[in-house]
Amino acid sequence: MLKRILLLAAACVTAALLPAKDILVNTPKTTLLLKADRGQPLHISYYGERIDNAGQVYSAGSLWYEAYPAFGTCGTDVPALSVRHADGNMTTELEYVSDTAVAEANATLYTITMKDQAYDFYVDVCYRAYSNADVIEAWTVLRNGEKKPVVLNKYASGFLPIRQDDVWVTHMHGEWAAEAEVTEQKLHPGIFEVHDVTGTRNAYKNRPNIMLSLDGKPQENSGRAIGAVLCWNGNYRITVDTNGKRAHTLVAGIDDAQSAYTLAKGASFTTPTLALAYSNEGIGGVSRSYHRWARLNNKIHNGTALRKTLLNSWEGVYFNVNEQNMTSLMDGVKAVGAELFVMDDGWFGDKYPRNNGSTSLGDWVTDRNKLPGGIPALERACAERGLKWGIWIEPEMTNTKSELYEKHPDWVICPPTRTPRPGRGGTQLCLDLSNPEVQNFVFGVVDRIMQETPNTYYIKWDYNYEIANYGSHYLTADRQSHLYVDFHLGLQKVLERIRQKYPDLVLQCCSSGGGRVNYGLMPYFDEFWVSDNTDAKQRLFIQWGTSMFFPANAMAQHVSASPNHQTGRRIPLKFRFDVAMSGRLGMEMKPSDLSEKELAFAQNAFRLYKDTLRTLVQLGDQYRLISPYEGTGYASQMFVNEAKSRAVFFAYRFETAVNMARPRFRFAGLKPDATYRLKQVNGNGRKNSWEGKTLTGRFLMQQGIEISLSGEYDSCVILLEE
Ligand code: DGJ
Repeated sequence: MLKRILLLAAACVTAALLPAKDILVNTPKTTLLLKADRGQPLHISYYGERIDNAGQVYSAGSLWYEAYPAFGTCGTDVPALSVRHADGNMTTELEYVSDTAVAEANATLYTITMKDQAYDFYVDVCYRAYSNADVIEAWTVLRNGEKKPVVLNKYASGFLPIRQDDVWVTHMHGEWAAEAEVTEQKLHPGIFEVHDVTGTRNAYKNRPNIMLSLDGKPQENSGRAIGAVLCWNGNYRITVDTNGKRAHTLVAGIDDAQSAYTLAKGASFTTPTLALAYSNEGIGGVSRSYHRWARLNNKIHNGTALRKTLLNSWEGVYFNVNEQNMTSLMDGVKAVGAELFVMDDGWFGDKYPRNNGSTSLGDWVTDRNKLPGGIPALERACAERGLKWGIWIEPEMTNTKSELYEKHPDWVICPPTRTPRPGRGGTQLCLDLSNPEVQNFVFGVVDRIMQETPNTYYIKWDYNYEIANYGSHYLTADRQSHLYVDFHLGLQKVLERIRQKYPDLVLQCCSSGGGRVNYGLMPYFDEFWVSDNTDAKQRLFIQWGTSMFFPANAMAQHVSASPNHQTGRRIPLKFRFDVAMSGRLGMEMKPSDLSEKELAFAQNAFRLYKDTLRTLVQLGDQYRLISPYEGTGYASQMFVNEAKSRAVFFAYRFETAVNMARPRFRFAGLKPDATYRLKQVNGNGRKNSWEGKTLTGRFLMQQGIEISLSGEYDSCVILLEE
């Protein structure tokens, strides 16, 4: 006790002696400016292009907002924090105590500690500013030093004021098989909000990331823009309050609905990270910052590793898994020249064999009727063909028709007094990851696979439901409102354990397609399944939206059959490949269905991708150019290596009309004074005037070139070499 009093006294003395202090949170090209002053809460007054002198911000006149406004003292504005203290008081009044700046490998970590004036309640406001990417992460640590528990009613990750102007928001809305639809709107006075309340997969409908364009309608490669990404897989809320006078204020964090969180005496809570990015190269500049940040700092697992090409069995055979089908698909993988075979759903279940979506989840034993040799025989069959082996699981789930559920009905998410409401197949239920026993079970699913078949290279981790029966058998009555949060903390524990033991295992994050495309999970996963929709035309749109925040090496893009199984559309193989090659290329069909000519085309495309395009696409800087959303019926994009000496350009035409206007195709991201030789690759034999010629980067970026694309579903891939 005495020690605590002395420490507190020391902190007060330090604060009293401290002069007001500017804290410049700098990345190579951006600055977030804070002011710490005794007796005051931390303030924020600038976020934008890098400045090295705070004085000019204040001389010019600046915004002046609390950096982490708390309820009860921030007037009527949307607060970032709301606490019920041990004595029932609902207000919090924070003042600056101390700050530190610690150098890390690729970043500086700033921690500014504030304390409530009347209570032993502490807030550490943290910012990590990267030196290898223009991204600043913000989060807080909330510490209860009071004598009894306190309740966190709202506990956002971060707050940011933005000066009012012609500000537009870009966000992604979606549905199953139609994820990441880009939506843009001007901000008018009032509240703009995106949030998700599905509990366990937050990226299906509204994704937990937005961009704000500060100079009017969003532009791909010009204008000032700010990105805000909440690194969390659970319920969230991102609010922009446009107050009609001076500023928009952004508050982002875990959604507070049904999520009051009790902090025991002495306990602390660390909020998820809010990753901020500023660029004056438009929303494309913000995207490139996030891509770089993700790759270089393991915000996607193993971020700089090249991803292998693969074939996944789902659309080829669906639940019809058996040895013959699997080995024939493996032959197909070898024939086209891909590197990895993945067996999807349908391989497991003993008492209840998995023949459709209504049974067996949780019973992770091989169905010996379908696969008499077991998984080791399949892994060997892959190795004999020189292929890597991968397998599908959905380990956080069960079905009411399963041995697991018969044994552990209390492991599912559902209040004990209610009958669970099932999802897929009329029987699917979510396991309760707040329960440590369930955490062990889920870890064990992966661990057992790795014990039985240690050469497993890849696991597709699926998740096809959400919380429909809020309640936990495990959590105590006074902690039921922790479920939305504790589920994810439990899942994170499982994934940490898996990563500690199996750092090189490639994990795909799938959730009925892109339901869990978020930076809460991606640090544990190497890639995600972009969408269950593999139609190349619709994929152009879905991939466009997804690329706003995620790099190409995380995006699993598969060539599937024609007519497409989701839309029934017929699209030529070349177009399907050209669309899939702008991410991690794979296949989702029976290669044996390809004609001889098509097989030769596929072989060539895989060779080209592996030998020439993979590094450029997966590790290059992405420039989105003509958006499919513009309504011209065309789209284009390119990827440029760091030295700007090589690039690959993709142009697509996906509509047709008589005398349809054709855009001039311009490039971006090149060195203006360098000359580049243009070579069409993956071509269909049609020649263009620029074939094999050299043009300057300046000409290519300012004037562009003509590309003859005839009719619907024609595309062109151009390799540029300095
Ligand atoms: C949903 C996934 O998105 C599909 O790719 C496939 O794995 C099925 N689940 C299997 O049930």
